[in-house]
Amino acid sequence: MSSVKDQLLRTVTQPVATGKNKITVVGVGQVGMACAFSILTSHVSNDVVLIDVMANKLKGEMMDLQHGSSFLKNAKINSSTDYAATANSILCVVTAGARQHEDETRLDLVQRNTDIFKGIIPQLVKYSPNTILLIVSNPVDILTYVAWKLSGLSKNRVIGSGTNLDSARFRFLLSQRLNIAPTSCHGWVIGEHGDTSVPVWSGVNIAGVRLRDLNANIGTEKDEEKWNELHKQVVDSAYEVIKLKGYTSWAIGLSISNLASSILRNTNQVHAVSTMIKGLHGIQEEVFLSLPSTLGEDGVTHIVQQKLTDAETKLLHKSAKAMQDVQQNLKF
Ligand SMILES: NC(=O)c1ccc[n+]([C@@H]2O[C@H](COP(=O)([O-])OP(=O)(O)OC[C@H]3O[C@@H](n4cnc5c(N)ncnc54)[C@H](O)[C@@H]3O)[C@@H](O)[C@H]2O)c1
Repeated sequence: MSSVKDQLLRTVTQPVATGKNKITVVGVGQVGMACAFSILTSHVSNDVVLIDVMANKLKGEMMDLQHGSSFLKNAKINSSTDYAATANSILCVVTAGARQHEDETRLDLVQRNTDIFKGIIPQLVKYSPNTILLIVSNPVDILTYVAWKLSGLSKNRVIGSGTNLDSARFRFLLSQRLNIAPTSCHGWVIGEHGDTSVPVWSGVNIAGVRLRDLNANIGTEKDEEKWNELHKQVVDSAYEVIKLKGYTSWAIGLSISNLASSILRNTNQVHAVSTMIKGLHGIQEEVFLSLPSTLGEDGVTHIVQQKLTDAETKLLHKSAKAMQDVQQNLKF
């Protein structure tokens, strides 16, 4: 007797996987799972593949998400330790990486994560030669450079999450101080993700009103209203969250899903992401740092050339030099 399935269903054609909106997430730690969850619940993709080296945790995370698939417009969620499962991904989000040991220098960590990337990036590109790589693992700007070198992809297809999150934190803090929605508070944090990021105070505005026109000292040490505290809080907030809950996850997950949405939906929205910036703002080094960039199905298509002050440009140059110093010592 034929099976229930055969009695129930008459095959018209065998489905062919097109990978139309397939996203791979590498690393199912706190950040990777927040990215996957946000991508699925925002309906940016209904075809997500998870990759990790920890087979049991990977399977557990996959099953947990699969059990929710009927609430996710019947999303398809797969996982594997084998990169063949990632074939035809439009976008690969890389969150895998080692955390810093107590006695470890930043450079040692960079080399350790570079070695981890050697096992990840070529595999992703092998199965999805036209993919876009979105790097999240830290130090994100240097690892985006590493991913670019290891992948052989063109520079527009290798993007770091960069200061997209720093900018979101900045806008949230502006919104708290002004009691205006974060999406109506326009401000950009550029440069290196983290400690040396650069707040572009010269452009901060609400409805086109530049705060610098209202307070010429805004963002400087001379400012009596101490608006520069906001950027200090942006820098400190990751440390504070990590101190309080052990890691950061939700905001970076939402920020990645926002970037993924612009790429998959080809929106040309402008985001602060880490991209190859040689030749911009007088930078000569081959480094990845964040500048406002349009994102679409080809990755980064344009970079907005902000009118930076001399002080802002100087800070950007300092970061570029620091990036290159680390990059020069990396062993590929
Ligand atoms: N760019 C940002 O704004 C931002 C924000 C938050 C965290 N991060 C970074 O994201 C990374 C992940 O953070 P987390 O809290 O999820 O860490 P985590 O330790 O919870 O997860 C890391 C995961 O990577 C996996 N992994 C390690 N080596 C691997 C390999 N070779 N192949 C596949 N998977 C591998 C581990 O098994 C683990 O599941 C860190 O580098 C963190 O600093 C970046």
